[in-house]
Amino acid sequence: MSILLCVSLIIHAGYCQVRVNKVVYAQLDSNVTLKCQADTQEEIKQITWEVKVDGTSKTFLTHRNDTGPIFQNSYGRRVRFKGDGYKDGSIQILSVTLADEGVFKCVFTTYPSGTIEGEIKLQILVLPTVRQELKQDVRTPCINMVTECLVSSAKPAAEIQWITRGVNYTSKEDIIIHTNKTMSKRSQLYMMTTPDLYDHEVLCLVSQPNIPFEYQGNITVKVTLTNIQFPPQMVEIEVLKNKDKLQLLCKSDGNPRPKYKWKRRDAERSDIIPLDTHEMTSSTLNFTDEYSDGLYICEAANDVGLNQGYIYMYQKTSSSRLRTGLLISVFSIILIATMCACYILIHRYVLVIVGGITGYISLLTSLLFAALFTIVFLSLSHHKADLLPPNQLIQTRESPLIK
Ligand SMILES: *[C@@H]1O[C@H](CO)[C@@H](O)[C@H](O)[C@H]1NC(C)=O
Ligand SMILES: *[C@@H]1O[C@H](CO)[C@@H](O)[C@H](O)[C@H]1NC(C)=O
Ligand SMILES: *[C@@H]1O[C@H](CO)[C@@H](O)[C@H](O)[C@H]1NC(C)=O
Ligand SMILES: *[C@@H]1O[C@H](CO)[C@@H](O)[C@H](O)[C@H]1NC(C)=O
Ligand SMILES: *[C@@H]1O[C@H](CO)[C@@H](O)[C@H](O)[C@H]1NC(C)=O
Ligand SMILES: *[C@@H]1O[C@H](CO)[C@@H](O)[C@H](O)[C@H]1NC(C)=O
Repeated sequence: MSILLCVSLIIHAGYCQVRVNKVVYAQLDSNVTLKCQADTQEEIKQITWEVKVDGTSKTFLTHRNDTGPIFQNSYGRRVRFKGDGYKDGSIQILSVTLADEGVFKCVFTTYPSGTIEGEIKLQILVLPTVRQELKQDVRTPCINMVTECLVSSAKPAAEIQWITRGVNYTSKEDIIIHTNKTMSKRSQLYMMTTPDLYDHEVLCLVSQPNIPFEYQGNITVKVTLTNIQFPPQMVEIEVLKNKDKLQLLCKSDGNPRPKYKWKRRDAERSDIIPLDTHEMTSSTLNFTDEYSDGLYICEAANDVGLNQGYIYMYQKTSSSRLRTGLLISVFSIILIATMCACYILIHRYVLVIVGGITGYISLLTSLLFAALFTIVFLSLSHHKADLLPPNQLIQTRESPLIK
């Protein structure tokens, strides 16, 4: 920390006579000790302290054995004499201000050689205060200013670094130098505002690199980019089955949080039927009774845009459909076989006896019976369909509609 400077004046060249720290740093408002020690065997008559302001030196303290410390001018009031009055002439300045910055000189009057002195440069450090501001509502997917870091009155100048964890960025700085020699800085961070950037964390690191390491008080401010707005990117529908209850759970992203609407496209008529008149912030669609077959649409929308997810629901499992299909096929074969048999029988025996018209009536009657049987069978197989989970699921991921 301290490089002791040996100031050798007057005659004893190469002989260390006053030991001081060449540069002393002090934080604003702190108490600082300026050490000054004489390294001589001669008699010390007096110690004086001077401060150089605007090129002229002013004496503010004189110490002698008989009188003790005598403070001159107003400057002396904030000073305490810390030495022993003999070889140690150290002082302490209370609650330093920016005006205290300057060159201090301690002078020992020795007998018989004369005066020996040491010079100390006092530097006042002002630690910056850091403030971070998010820019509101960043929407467009291009390079935008997302946040800024404001450093107020630092001394010496502060540097602002951005740590973006892998995201490309540019930054722009403004600097203000105040009359009291402190400096304020503003750094604006520009980034490509894609949905991926939402909730990303960036750091604003403020340092004062031009001061010794032990005085450095680096400040890190964490910024979470919650101001990136984007439409729902994907809508996912999950099917939850719990005993007899069936639920469709719709999930989506997007900032601000989207609101959900459920709709159904009717399987036959292809109408879009809204399932709830009011907008639902909850995303669950509950089925308690039988539901209608069709394409269920979940629409997620926020201020920026909207997106949809789809699911196709029907109440029969494919195995029961297959069973029905098989039965119909078997029945149809039996029907055709019966018809053929009838036709042959009628043609051979009946037509000859009762004539053409009655034969055709019998044929039509048997056809009618067959049709009736088919209808009854089909309606029976459709009856009492249980609440079954859908057997087909369509999920789409579309690029959202931007408002
Ligand atoms: C400076 O010294 C004064 C008087 O001894 C004391 O009251 C004050 O707390 C000190 N300030 C600091 C920052 O140490
Ligand atoms: C001042 O006092 C110290 C001891 O307190 C003594 O060693 C020194 O010689 C004195 N100086 C003078 C000039 O009387
Ligand atoms: C970041 O910038 C570099 C150089 O301009 C480029 O090669 C890289 O692809 C960029 N990375 C991203 C994620 O845009
Ligand atoms: C320096 O000046 C600026 C601007 O007037 C002010 O905001 C700041 O508080 C001052 N700092 C000190 C330590 O006086
Ligand atoms: C403060 O930050 C600077 C720049 O990143 C770094 O070089 C220095 O080591 C840091 N100092 C401390 C005390 O952490
Ligand atoms: C659906 O049921 C769940 C509980 O199972 C309930 O929390 C939710 O509010 C219901 N949703 C609607 C739209 O009624």
